[in-house]
Amino acid sequence: MRPPAHFYAPLAAGAPQPYRQPPVRLERMIHFIPPHVEKVRAKVPQLIGKVDVILGNLEDAIPADAKEAAREGFIRMAQDNDFGNTGLWVRINALNSPWVLDDVMEIMAGCGKKLDVIMLPKVEGAWDIHYLDRLLAQLEARHGIDKPVMIHAILETPLGVSNVEEIATASPRMHGISLGPADLAASRGMKTTRVGGGHPGYRVIADPDPDNPQAPRASAQQDLWHYTIARMVDACRAAGISPFYGPFGDFSDPEACEVQFRNAFLLGCVGAWTLHPSQIDIARRVFSPDPEEVRFALKILKAMPDGTGAVMVDGKMQDDATWKQAKVLVDLARLVVEKEPEKKALYGLEEDA
Ligand code: GLV
Ligand code: MG
Repeated sequence: MRPPAHFYAPLAAGAPQPYRQPPVRLERMIHFIPPHVEKVRAKVPQLIGKVDVILGNLEDAIPADAKEAAREGFIRMAQDNDFGNTGLWVRINALNSPWVLDDVMEIMAGCGKKLDVIMLPKVEGAWDIHYLDRLLAQLEARHGIDKPVMIHAILETPLGVSNVEEIATASPRMHGISLGPADLAASRGMKTTRVGGGHPGYRVIADPDPDNPQAPRASAQQDLWHYTIARMVDACRAAGISPFYGPFGDFSDPEACEVQFRNAFLLGCVGAWTLHPSQIDIARRVFSPDPEEVRFALKILKAMPDGTGAVMVDGKMQDDATWKQAKVLVDLARLVVEKEPEKKALYGLEEDA
């Protein structure tokens, strides 16, 4: 039995007090870069103003013989830049890899004070979070780091999906969870080589017309990822943390990328990974609320100042529940405006102080 009061106690003497709630930040795109590539590192100062989160990737896509260089490159990049209100994250190697211990030890020593979030791949259960949680507390204490480094889990194994609720609530250090469609497809035995998005073979079909059995039958493609995203969103929101869609691999198909991102956004996700610069604007567009919806939401909030009762706005019924829906959109719009003040008028937020 673990007494509830211990949940928020630091896991090492001298480690910072865990957050009661994760800090609220705008995280529409988590932009992945390979930190061992000098040319890419040189572009970080320009990238900082363009994205909400910069992530140094140390795991998959980094060749085995570049793992140390990626780790060192990340630390250098963290030390050499001022990230302002742009998040600084790192994706470390998986817990069963030969690199992960040095990833954590060296990064916490080299730039733990600047790091916001560690993304942990292939999380299978709460035990993976507990391991990293304690290790981070020990390293925070050792290096005098005074704000907790958060953990973001990737949901990319069937066991992880089975345990997603326990993962989301494993520690106050949990920041959020991302869907990893490539590893998840592989480990589930799904028959696709795509990284996210739809598949033309996954569909439903209408019955044959009894009067004309040879006539073409209506058929529609279905969403392969709906179940997993919806389950992940419930697990995250129930735990008070943030759900994200992960990678979209076909850089030549921005339209499909946008549709995948939008489905995730509408279902509750707050952002997605951007693996290519061309995906940054897509994520910014999709994960910022629609201006027309925000202006309508503001009307609802104005019509129900204390959030109770029932009123009609533009012919549509509003009550306590729709007030809360409106607040989700307006809160997000305010967060966007903090970073992009030029959108104030677009969202009808001129009256905000
Ligand atoms: C991401 O890591 C994925 O496997 O999709
Ligand atoms: Mg993966």
